[in-house]
Amino acid sequence: MKEMEKKLTINEIATFCKKKGFIFPSSEIYGGLSGFFDYGPLGVELKNNLKQLWWKAHVHEREDIVGMDGSIILNPRVWVASGHAEHFEDVLVECKKCHQRFRADQLIEEKTGENVDGKSPEELHELIVAKGIKCPNCGGELSEPKSFNLMFKTYVGPKQTKENVAYLRPETAQSIFTEVKNIMEVSRKKLPFGIAQIGKSFRNEISPRNFLFRSREFEQAEIEYFINEKDLNNCPYFNEVENYKMLALTEDMQKRGNKEKEMSVKELVNKGVIKSKWQAYWISFEHKFLVRVGLKPEHLRIRQHLSIERAHYSLDTWDIEYKFPFGWKEIEGVSNRTTFDIKNHMKESKKDLRVFDEKYKEKTIPYVVSEPSLGIDRLFLAVLFEAYENNEKRGNIVLKLKPFLSPIKAAVLPLVSNKEELMKKAREVYNSLKKDFNVVFDKSGSIGRRYAREDEIGTPFCITIDFDSLKNNDATIRFRDSTEQERVAIKEIRDKITSLIRNDKC
Ligand code: GAP
Repeated sequence: MKEMEKKLTINEIATFCKKKGFIFPSSEIYGGLSGFFDYGPLGVELKNNLKQLWWKAHVHEREDIVGMDGSIILNPRVWVASGHAEHFEDVLVECKKCHQRFRADQLIEEKTGENVDGKSPEELHELIVAKGIKCPNCGGELSEPKSFNLMFKTYVGPKQTKENVAYLRPETAQSIFTEVKNIMEVSRKKLPFGIAQIGKSFRNEISPRNFLFRSREFEQAEIEYFINEKDLNNCPYFNEVENYKMLALTEDMQKRGNKEKEMSVKELVNKGVIKSKWQAYWISFEHKFLVRVGLKPEHLRIRQHLSIERAHYSLDTWDIEYKFPFGWKEIEGVSNRTTFDIKNHMKESKKDLRVFDEKYKEKTIPYVVSEPSLGIDRLFLAVLFEAYENNEKRGNIVLKLKPFLSPIKAAVLPLVSNKEELMKKAREVYNSLKKDFNVVFDKSGSIGRRYAREDEIGTPFCITIDFDSLKNNDATIRFRDSTEQERVAIKEIRDKITSLIRNDKC
């Protein structure tokens, strides 16, 4: 946490991202649009690598999960059934003087440090009056709070009438619920099993803030994991995680004003804090995944939602929070959604979505014991905070990304650019490596400057072709984190890099 202690700010990360081509504010030539971003050449590579790893860990490495890719616009009745049409709201207040709008809960939390999640507009109003909260922009008086639905509205087809109103999905989950029966039939899966999806979601946030952290268009990676409700504690994978430890903050600890402390999965289940072995398994599986992408366990904690804070569909939710410079913040939620959604879709669609459970020889409504829901953009941000090191000794930034996440895996550098033979050899190496990895060829500037350039964007390996390479058919691999160098035969470079990436060494 050395760099975090130096308080690398969100603005510094945003500036770094723009300068290096990770992220740009969307449509900036027109002044941008609040809450929307463009991923640049390096950003799209890093984001794709994160998504690929998530897919590998959740779909390819497991026998019990299959994937899907649903549409962004769904039949609007989906949102009636899911409760989003009625409940997916934040409470806003408007300044009577400058007419700027704010999220009422955020204003109160900023002023008092109190968590006011789940409070009604009336309760929030009372707090605003009691605490004398004014407009942070101009000091003006604030209006009475009112609810605001966060779904983006659009029209399907050429007629812009009430009947043609539709919404951009605010979560990817719903198409999983509407397809569960189809998917179970075609994939020949039996309970317990899960469906995974990565895709864009849209929320018309009242106050987008903290760069990528709260935006209006973002990507989610979600699993809906279905069991027979009778099997809440019958989790065959539980022994893989029972001794795993995480920083945990339970509802009770929050009410007592205690801080998070390290607890094992077994302890959390035995004390009845996490309500089922399945939910405990999924919380720890997700925590392990976040550690696998490079987040340090001491920068992660699991926090149980207070009962007043839980979403309308949830029986029990745990957030996995990352210690950002602006505080502990949710990057992933893990909820027990019960049969809430599927039951409501059965009611609204009048279709039988029950599935046959061979174990109990009965038709049953698939029970969502866990919905791990990860924000890819928030993960991207956390990964950057974790990797960013302002290395005073080297005089440059070193982005210590895990090699499999690095946008560029290796840079091929001819020692000098004015020797034709050297350039030819370096080109040969580049041409052969680019078939397997995202590599760059860079001939401009001193070798030190080129190393620094690669350090700053997280390239784990620099391959330098020098005069000895012409004689011996070998090259130097320079490692980003240690700056150590190793001489390797050119024909072995590909295997060497493959193995370093696989073993997470650089
Ligand atoms: N299907 C459950 C669901 O959508 P959520 O807690 O509202 O739950 C899940 O969202 C994750 O999506 C969050 O943990 C967060 O990482 C991400 N997310 C939600 N709103 C976001 C926003 N406005 N900007 C960026 N990411 C967001």
